[in-house]
Amino acid sequence: MKIEILPSLLAADFGRLGDEILRAEASGAEALHLDIMDAHFVPNLSFGPDVVALAKRTAPGFSRNVHLMMSRPDLYLEKFAVAGAQTIQIHVEADCDLHTELKRIRALGLKNAIVLNPETPVERLEPYLGEIDEALVMTVHPGYGGQSFLADCLPKVTWLRERKPQLDVMVDGGVNAETAVLAAKAGANQFVAGSYLFKQSDMKAAVSGLRSSVSSPL
Ligand code: DX5
Ligand code: ZN
Repeated sequence: MKIEILPSLLAADFGRLGDEILRAEASGAEALHLDIMDAHFVPNLSFGPDVVALAKRTAPGFSRNVHLMMSRPDLYLEKFAVAGAQTIQIHVEADCDLHTELKRIRALGLKNAIVLNPETPVERLEPYLGEIDEALVMTVHPGYGGQSFLADCLPKVTWLRERKPQLDVMVDGGVNAETAVLAAKAGANQFVAGSYLFKQSDMKAAVSGLRSSVSSPL
């Protein structure tokens, strides 16, 4: 499986967002992870389609992976597609019909993904396995950056890897040089890291370090 590292813009310095997007692109990471929070599905607000559009304008060639922590992602799919999302990730716990929305994301020409909160059993994904491009296993309770990695969630990664060996399986939350190795051993091939990467003075070295440790995790 192709290894992908995704810096999460939530941990960037919002006073210099354009420069931070360029720093993430120059790090050699595969894509930018953009966390959208609606203050209903999660107890926090982040940013909306305008920041996705800023990322597209600033770094057109740097892929944009949009994580919708929203109760009604179905109402915003077109807005994020127009803004420049290339993957849209929606939660299995959201208040909409997943089969319909996964189809709509693909019809917009984008990749789709389902996200699973820490307390949600992985079996909830079973009916959708034939309809998704990626699965995202949350390794923190969504809503804030900078939380500690929940290793209890890793058996879900292994379940997905065994059930569908070619599926892209991503982890998000509390990922750093040590926890990324645990996730890689469990079967993850895509790694979101916010605070760990943005706090580095040399993000490029940190991305290379992460990549090599998850490439040979044993
Ligand atoms: C959590 C978000 C994560 C977050 C990760 O609600 O979905 O993407 O930004 O941040 P770190 O890597 O700091 O845990
Ligand atoms: Zn996220």
